[in-house]
Amino acid sequence: MPKYICIDEKISPFNKTIQVSADKSLSIRTILLASQAVGTSKISNLLESEDVLNALKVIKKLGIDYKKTKDFYKIYGFGLNGFDPKNNTVINAGNSGTLGRLILSLLIKTKKKIKLIGDKSLSKRDFSRVTIPLKKFGAKFSSNSKLPLYIKGLKNPKPINYFEKKGSAQVKTSLIMAALKTKGLSKIKAKKSRTHTEIMLKNLKIPIKIKKTKNFDYIQIRGVNKISPLHYNIPGDISSSAFFLVLTILSKNSELLIKNININPSRTGIIKILKRMRANIRIVNKKIYKGESVGDILVKSSNNLKSINCPTKYNTSAIDEFLVIFLVAAKSKGISYFKNLSELNHKESPRLYWGSKILNLMGVKNIVTNDSIKIYGNPNLKIKRKIHIKNYLKDHRIFMMSVIAGLTFGGSWKINDQDSIKTSFPSFLKILRKIR
Ligand code: S3P
Repeated sequence: MPKYICIDEKISPFNKTIQVSADKSLSIRTILLASQAVGTSKISNLLESEDVLNALKVIKKLGIDYKKTKDFYKIYGFGLNGFDPKNNTVINAGNSGTLGRLILSLLIKTKKKIKLIGDKSLSKRDFSRVTIPLKKFGAKFSSNSKLPLYIKGLKNPKPINYFEKKGSAQVKTSLIMAALKTKGLSKIKAKKSRTHTEIMLKNLKIPIKIKKTKNFDYIQIRGVNKISPLHYNIPGDISSSAFFLVLTILSKNSELLIKNININPSRTGIIKILKRMRANIRIVNKKIYKGESVGDILVKSSNNLKSINCPTKYNTSAIDEFLVIFLVAAKSKGISYFKNLSELNHKESPRLYWGSKILNLMGVKNIVTNDSIKIYGNPNLKIKRKIHIKNYLKDHRIFMMSVIAGLTFGGSWKINDQDSIKTSFPSFLKILRKIR
């Protein structure tokens, strides 16, 4: 794979049907839960990206076997105490915050010392958001906030009460999974975030009670003796389809049908935000699969876009999509305002900072703070300059956002580190070639 990509031409009008790759959150969750089940889980359409393959490597290192067959991955679980690592085993979460934060929860009952490492980007990210509450269960950590760190579990972790204030599904999931390993009832008050874990556990008939209010979910979860194996066919990822949604909205005379996407309402913030900006998007063929909403997304060119003062209630359900939403704001009439978004700077790269930087390179006026950005939109925006995107910690979403900007606004782009897409969406450029 060449190290960089050059884009010198806008995309021509298109009318196509595509399928994007499988949902990353669901892929990682199914692997980790399968590693705790008793018996053989079968997962089809698993996302074969580095983050997900690292999840398979990690469970393998902890003693859980898996096998790839023609139609699915088989994972051979030995139950909630089935990990059997040697002392000082090193596990590598690579680039994945989700894998790093979730795997720690599954180690709170492992009495051997385990070392968790990650790549350059993950080693800059905050782990105290999970180590602080996981300590309450009784687990011990060598370092509070950054990788590398050691964890040592205990025979009888205690249930906890905890208030998760960030709206982080990674933290919420980590606590729910840890609670499964206790003897007793844990109570978690959580700011709204994606709900895949709760839905999966309900499907596995695990007793989890959830009371939903406007801003918070009150979750009660009891430790269990056993988890049944999973049989799961993973739908497409809305976060991957986001790049193609925006590509179509910002292109002339184009239309795209994106098939079989997970449209869990806790993930569809991008659709709600873009519709408010007058984008032409419709969901068709809606159905429910194992408690998750799934549908096809039909999107068309939209030439009457207007700015948005984005309601913060959409923040967590669009958290991975803001970079491409900023591109739509750049082409909308008026000034858009996105606020309370400090979490964006805790992702694979500081994304609020990078969003602003790329808009500056494009010549789009914006004012950025630690947790907000104002974008001065221009419906006639055309780029004529040379733009070089580099040193962005190989954040996959920065790479893909830049490609979409080049294909829709023009200019002459050189975007480094093409291999960054391998973490979440290795087929991104291949699908793009089908559309072009
Ligand atoms: C994820 C949750 C989000 C998201 C990440 C995947 C998950 O992170 O940004 O890409 O699978 O739970 P936070 O929960 O930390 O916001």
